[in-house]
Amino acid sequence: MRKKIVAGNWKMNLDYNEGLSLFSEVINMVKDEATGTQEVVVCSPFIHLHSLAQLAKGYNKISVGAQNAHQAESGAYTGEVSAKQVKSVGAGYVILGHSERRQYFGENNELLAKKTDTALKNGLKPIFCIGETLQEREANQHFDIIKSQLVEGVFHLDAEAFGTLVLAYEPVWAIGTGVTASAEQAQEIHAFIRKELAAKYGEQVADDTTILYGGSCNPKNAAELFAQPDIDGGLIGGASLKSRDFTDIVKAFN
Ligand code: 13P
Repeated sequence: MRKKIVAGNWKMNLDYNEGLSLFSEVINMVKDEATGTQEVVVCSPFIHLHSLAQLAKGYNKISVGAQNAHQAESGAYTGEVSAKQVKSVGAGYVILGHSERRQYFGENNELLAKKTDTALKNGLKPIFCIGETLQEREANQHFDIIKSQLVEGVFHLDAEAFGTLVLAYEPVWAIGTGVTASAEQAQEIHAFIRKELAAKYGEQVADDTTILYGGSCNPKNAAELFAQPDIDGGLIGGASLKSRDFTDIVKAFN
């Protein structure tokens, strides 16, 4: 059975103390809610990671993750943070390929394939993001874009390594815009992704892979999205910055 996950992506928000307060609230509110196979992950800026990992100790369904990690093992890369460093403070996950990294930092599929390898080598589970822009959807290229992001970003992995990944479908036009993909639109893409996984790695791997939806997910629309057969949870931006909203999204599985 694939894991149901709700992950928060704080992006570049919250100072150190604000982050700790929010996470403490979230732990208190979700610790009894994360039932079944569900896992709650909070992906914070690097500065919070160590402290959040300490707070999450003892809660086996609450984990923390980074939002990026460098492709090199270590070295003269001023300002960067390595996968090994992220792992060493107790993080379990790392978001890779977020559209904001692709758009503002020029991260392409080739680079992301390297980042994925380095993250996996260092024991981090990538939450690998894919998704089309509005222009690509309007030009009816969304299936091709999704497929090339998979093929070039992660299909070099063998089935065992691939089994560690979480995928996140985040249509760029739905991120931070208040425009959510409809449950049908999201399900259509998730089913397509799972079909591609089955063709590449077989039915079992496809069936076991957690595929999250991200993009203006909120307490009002989460239940309908999560009820879709191929949507296994969410990657939550804005709503993860409010403990009540984030917890309500976690509860949308119940
Ligand atoms: P919003 O939930 O703010 O639209 O952000 C989604 C996202 O980018 C999560 O990674």
